[in-house]
Amino acid sequence: MKTVIILGITADIGRELAFRFKRDGWRVTGSHRAGTTVAVDLPAEALFTCDLASKSSVDRAIETCRKRNLVWDLLIVAAGTEEPIGPFFACDAEAWEQGFGVNALAPLRFLHGIHDLRRQSGSSHVAFFSGAGTNGAAPAYSAYCAAKILLLKMCELLDAESRDTSFFIIGPGIVRTKIHQQTLKEPEKSGLNHQKVVNFLGSGDPGSSHNDIYACLQWCLASGKAIVGGRNISLVYDAWRHGGSVLAKALTDEPNLYKLRRFGNHLKFTSEAS
Ligand SMILES: NC(=O)c1ccc[n+]([C@@H]2O[C@H](COP(=O)([O-])OP(=O)(O)OC[C@H]3O[C@@H](n4cnc5c(N)ncnc54)[C@H](OP(=O)(O)O)[C@@H]3O)[C@@H](O)[C@H]2O)c1
Repeated sequence: MKTVIILGITADIGRELAFRFKRDGWRVTGSHRAGTTVAVDLPAEALFTCDLASKSSVDRAIETCRKRNLVWDLLIVAAGTEEPIGPFFACDAEAWEQGFGVNALAPLRFLHGIHDLRRQSGSSHVAFFSGAGTNGAAPAYSAYCAAKILLLKMCELLDAESRDTSFFIIGPGIVRTKIHQQTLKEPEKSGLNHQKVVNFLGSGDPGSSHNDIYACLQWCLASGKAIVGGRNISLVYDAWRHGGSVLAKALTDEPNLYKLRRFGNHLKFTSEAS
């Protein structure tokens, strides 16, 4: 039986993935913050607490996984926060660091502590979720956006360093989850994004579905390290549906595809002679 660890099993996306993995015969384990109710029916020993804003809590979570000898096949990082929302210079520096840490540094610390528990026979996978701002600025969300960019680059770095683990990140598009409440709570500080979120939530647009997130993730697992390792896969824009063979070939042929790169290297400007 394969085992998935969901870091942030009380995330709306985390919970929905947990249901589906459990339904499909996986052993599901996951972390939650102390006091947050876990809505997935799992035995107590499948759960552990982890507050990503606290290094000691992350270290205790690692310790728990090690004591339980939690051999895993897939780690999904579903925890995340948009906070602090607001222009960088208007944010409290401590809160900014904390937001960045919760989104990127703490999940990487957890991964660092449990990586050697992965199943040694066969291949393992680590999946992150990216966020807005990969191809442009996301004003007022710099801690969130910068952390997601770090995760994106870490997928490429870790993938290059590892022989048996596939590291990838999925951009799920906009999903109807509780994370948007953070923007709604900050009508001023969230700037133009506030109206965008209000419009989306008030519209009939269902956004990306949890079934699609699960299907896209399954495609990434089935495709494996040689195809998706180190990549930023977009649920909305990429042709992973219906087998995704054209996408798989394109990714195989172009190692730079869907990775973080400097835009414009193909433009050849000549320097003016002085
Ligand atoms: N929804 C979207 O449109 C969207 C778009 C792009 C990317 N994503 C990404 O998808 C992932 C899942 O988000 P979601 O949409 O499902 O939102 P969500 O329901 O708000 O999930 C976020 C989770 O992060 C957890 N979390 C926040 N701070 C934490 C901390 N200090 N320690 C431990 N856990 C903490 C929350 O825990 P509690 O349950 O205890 O509050 C919550 O369960 C996130 O990485 C998000 O960035 C979402």
